[in-house]
Amino acid sequence: MSKRSHSTGKPFNPETLALGYGYEPRLSEGAVKPPVFLTSTFQFASAEDGKRFFELAYGLREPDDGEQQGLIYSRLNNPNMQIFEERMAAWDQCELGATFASGMAAISTTMLALLRPGDVVISTEPIYGGTYYLFRHILSEYGIDVRLVAAGDDAPARMREAAEQAGAARVRVLYLETPANPNLVHTDIAAIAQLGADLRAAHGGAVTTVVDNTLLGPLFQLPATMGADIVIYSATKFIGGHSDLIAGVASGPRELMVKVLSMRTILGTGATPFNGWLLLRSLETLSVRMRRQQKNARALAQLLAEHPMVESVSYPGLLAPNEPQHALWQKQCTGSGSMIAFHIKGGQAAAYRVLDSFEVARLAVSLGGTETLVEHPMTMTHADVPPAELEARGVGPGLIRMSVGLEHLSDLKRDLVHALRAAEG
Ligand SMILES: Cc1ncc(COP(=O)(O)O)c(C=O)c1O
Repeated sequence: MSKRSHSTGKPFNPETLALGYGYEPRLSEGAVKPPVFLTSTFQFASAEDGKRFFELAYGLREPDDGEQQGLIYSRLNNPNMQIFEERMAAWDQCELGATFASGMAAISTTMLALLRPGDVVISTEPIYGGTYYLFRHILSEYGIDVRLVAAGDDAPARMREAAEQAGAARVRVLYLETPANPNLVHTDIAAIAQLGADLRAAHGGAVTTVVDNTLLGPLFQLPATMGADIVIYSATKFIGGHSDLIAGVASGPRELMVKVLSMRTILGTGATPFNGWLLLRSLETLSVRMRRQQKNARALAQLLAEHPMVESVSYPGLLAPNEPQHALWQKQCTGSGSMIAFHIKGGQAAAYRVLDSFEVARLAVSLGGTETLVEHPMTMTHADVPPAELEARGVGPGLIRMSVGLEHLSDLKRDLVHALRAAEG
């Protein structure tokens, strides 16, 4: 299947592409679904082919017109990874994708491809705890200067200020996680991409805007259409969607993704063929799952907002038109998704009692799976971030993060009401 209909010339939608694009049944005995290509290496038709494939893989020559990278070795490429990344790149409206062994492999490989000692990264905060650890403890060891600014409506102005303070000519990556994990604060993607363009114009250096799109994308948010360069996901979450695999994916312009793919080849951070196959299978139902999970989440968010033991609820669909984030959410998202963050009255002790009282929802980290998960960000996913830093970003001891699944809504509501009773002590 190609990207456009042969008969009408019209482009197919991502949901349709997810079922056929990038796969040629003729090459696999007519199998309607791609088989799992459980092979570490691929046989060349001739020595000349092997030589030409390697030349392309190592960037030793430009591809001939229409030439595709040949299959070499599963650390470099594999049909299961490749079909998945073509479908993801199409969904993200980017030129090229790359599949990874985890979301963290996608983030760290991309950062290592883009950064060198002395460079500056400016990122929004809060961010996922693992990304925070990479930025604070690992990149800094390699001489990379990471500055964190609060996510939200003022983030573009804060990033501009941070760039000036750090020395604007040294800025190489503008990183944002929007909505932010765990408090679901939105940051203006187009405004940050514009800052990147301004810095490039002023100083001539390469400045890449990278967006972690795990929480709403690709269904409800498409950063590349707003000027972002690289779009990253923990595919462990909604894309994998069944809490049975760990994977990551990144998409972007060919010029940048070639660098990311070269780094992936050498670090060996790509996904296994079997996980590539699982991701392909999951992508087919992504749209249906995310929309149905959103429906459940909207009802639970409403229930939480009306509960006397709940201090506040973060859920995009509950934003009132006069609230600061409403206009931004309307501008850059087409849905609310199925993540909810809520503060329980009574702090950590009350939050723990609630977490221990769920029967349907599971007390586990991660998100985006078919089952409902709840966790305590301050002492779990974001445990490495100093508590004062978290509190300054609105992540307090009473905060619970919930990823809403596909269970029957009446069971989820009863479960939540029952668990919230425990908050009273
Ligand atoms: C927003 C976000 N980005 C990245 C990651 C890291 O992904 P992975 O666990 O697949 O490495 C996570 C994991 O929870 C996440 O929530």
